[in-house]
Amino acid sequence: MTERTLVLVKPDGVSRGLVGEVISRIERKGLKLVALELRAVDRGLAEQHYAEHDGKPFFESLLEFITSGPVVAAVVEGPRAIAAFRQLAGGTDPVEKATPGTIRGDFALETQFNLVHGSDSADSAAREIKLWFPDL
Ligand code: CMP
Repeated sequence: MTERTLVLVKPDGVSRGLVGEVISRIERKGLKLVALELRAVDRGLAEQHYAEHDGKPFFESLLEFITSGPVVAAVVEGPRAIAAFRQLAGGTDPVEKATPGTIRGDFALETQFNLVHGSDSADSAAREIKLWFPDL
């Protein structure tokens, strides 16, 4: 089933020059880019994007981090795109969960600085795509 998912290359990925690497992996997997934008993230957008984490101990530092520099936001489409991108990304903890060969497994060390975000369900994807790309 063709799906869409929201992908972010977070500020660490942009500042480390890994945007091309991430996009290349998405394309080589066979997924299609249907929207792509480099943009600043204000606090309001960050709070809405991460609303489900409000109240968690890392919430404030997560907001600080995601607003600390530009991100690349993309809408990615393809068969089972949500799971497919999460497979490319690897687990949230880049050392304990992400395996070598995944984006996080290959390039990240810390859970907060885990380079990319991908929607975790169809409901999240719909919500996040509307939030980041309301005109799509
Ligand atoms: P992401 O997929 O964007 O979704 C929520 C983010 O919160 C996650 O990636 C991490 O960047 C961050 N996160 C999750 N758990 C922790 C944690 N224990 N400590 C710091 N950051 C976390």
